[in-house]
Amino acid sequence: MKTYLVTGAAGFIGANYLKYLLGKYDDIRVVVLDALTYAGNLGTIAKDIDNERCHFFKGNIGDSELLDRLFGEYKFDYIVNFAAESHVDRSIEDPQLFLMTNILGTQNLLNAARRAWVTGKDEAGYPMWRKGVRFHQVSTDEVYGSLGEDGFFTEATPLCPHSPYSASKASADMIVMAYFDTYKMPATITRCSNNYGPYHFPEKLIPLIIKNILEGKKLPVYGDGSNVRDWLYVEDHCKAIDLVVTKGINGEVYNVGGHNEKTNLEIVKTIIAHIHQSMIEHPEYRSLLKTKEKDADGLPAIDWINDGLINFVKDRLGHDQRYAIDPTKITETLGWEPETRFEEGIVTTIDWYLKHQDWVNQVTSGDYQSYYDKMYLKR
Ligand code: NAD
Ligand code: DAU
Repeated sequence: MKTYLVTGAAGFIGANYLKYLLGKYDDIRVVVLDALTYAGNLGTIAKDIDNERCHFFKGNIGDSELLDRLFGEYKFDYIVNFAAESHVDRSIEDPQLFLMTNILGTQNLLNAARRAWVTGKDEAGYPMWRKGVRFHQVSTDEVYGSLGEDGFFTEATPLCPHSPYSASKASADMIVMAYFDTYKMPATITRCSNNYGPYHFPEKLIPLIIKNILEGKKLPVYGDGSNVRDWLYVEDHCKAIDLVVTKGINGEVYNVGGHNEKTNLEIVKTIIAHIHQSMIEHPEYRSLLKTKEKDADGLPAIDWINDGLINFVKDRLGHDQRYAIDPTKITETLGWEPETRFEEGIVTTIDWYLKHQDWVNQVTSGDYQSYYDKMYLKR
C-alpha cells in the first residue's frame, strides 16, 4: 500500500486530484496537508476525508515541526506538492507571500522528505534513498514566460518567468532540480497549462466570468482580450500527474497541455453562449440570473451581455501574451493524452457551477468582496 502526502488538496487542482486518486485506487492512504488560505476550502473535500484512507491536517508546508511529525507518523512513499499561492494578480499586489510559500515552503518540504527518506550515504557521499519514494512538484507553464504568435513551450525551453508568481514557481522548480542533482533526490516536475473545471476559485477568469454573468456584473477583460491561454480540463491534468508520480523518471520534467489555445475574449464569449444555451435547456437555472436584463422567457438578454457587460479594462502589469504547451514528451513516454475536448469540458464546467451555487457562495463568503472591489472597482 502506498501512502501519499498531498499538499494543497483543499484548493482547485489538489481537490480534483485527491478525488481522482481515491476513486482510482483502493489500496492507498492519503494524508492531506493544507493551510486553508482563502483559496482552500475544507468543504470541497469533506466527504473524501474518512480518517481511514484519507486524513486531513491543517498546516503550513513551511512548518518543519509539523512536517517531521507527519513524516514520523505516516511512512510517506509519495509527496505531491500542490500547495502554493497561485493567482498572478495577487502576486503583483503582494509578491513576498508568494516567495515564502512557493519557494521556501517547497524547500522546507524537500528538507523534511530528505530527513525522512535518506537511509545512508554511498561511497561518493551521495545520500541513499528509501526505495520507491518520490517527490513530485506541480509546476506551471508560466515558468517559460511568454510566446509570440508561433511556437510551443517544450521541456527544453529556457525558464523566463515574468510575474512574481511565475518567478516563484520557476525558483521552486530549480530548487527541486538542485535537490535531484546534488542529493540524487527522487523527484519529478510537471508543468501544466491553464486548468478549468469544478472547484475553480472565482478569482480566476472562467469561474469569475460565470459568477459575474449570473450577477449581471461587468465582465472584466484585461487589455484587448487577445492574450492566449492553452486550456486543459482539470481531470486530464490529474491523470498526467498520476502517471508521472507512478511511472515517471526521476529528474525529468514533463509538460502537460492539450493544444487548446483560446484568446480570453473567445473564452468569455463561449461562456456567455453556453450559459444562454443552458438556460434554454434547463428553465430551472433561470432563477439564478440576478440581472433584470432578461427577455420575455426569463433568459439572459444575450446581446445585452455581449454588448453591455463585456468590459475591456486596464491590462495586467507584465501580462504574458501567449502560452502554448508541446506535450509530446509525456505522450510518447507515458502515453498521456488529453481526454476531454474543450467543447465538452466547458459545458460540464458551466453546468457544475450552475448546480453548485452553494459552493460558490461558501468560498466567496470571506474576504472575496473586498478583494474584488480592490482589484476591479477602479480598474
Ligand atoms: P489554489 O490556489 O486553488 O489552491 C492552493 C491550495 O494550497 C489551497 O488549498 C491553499 O489553502 C493551499 N496552500 C496555500 N499556501 C499553503 C501553505 N503555505 N501550506 C499549505 N497549503 C497551502 O491553486 P490551484 O489552482 O489548485 O493550483 C495548485 C498548484 O498547481 C499550484 O502549485 C499551481 O502553481 C499549479 N498550477 C495551477 C494551474 C492552474 O491553471 N490553476 C496550472 C498549472 C499549475
Ligand atoms: O498557465 C498556468 C497558470 O494559469 C497557473 O500557473 C496559475 O496558477 C493560474 O492562475 C493560471 O494563470 P493565468 O494568469 O493564466 O489565469 P487567470 O485565470 O488569472 O487569467 C487567465 C487570462 O485571463 C489571463 O490572460 C488574464 C485574463 N483575465 C483574468 C482575470 C482574472 C482577464 O482578462 N480578466 C480577469 O478578470
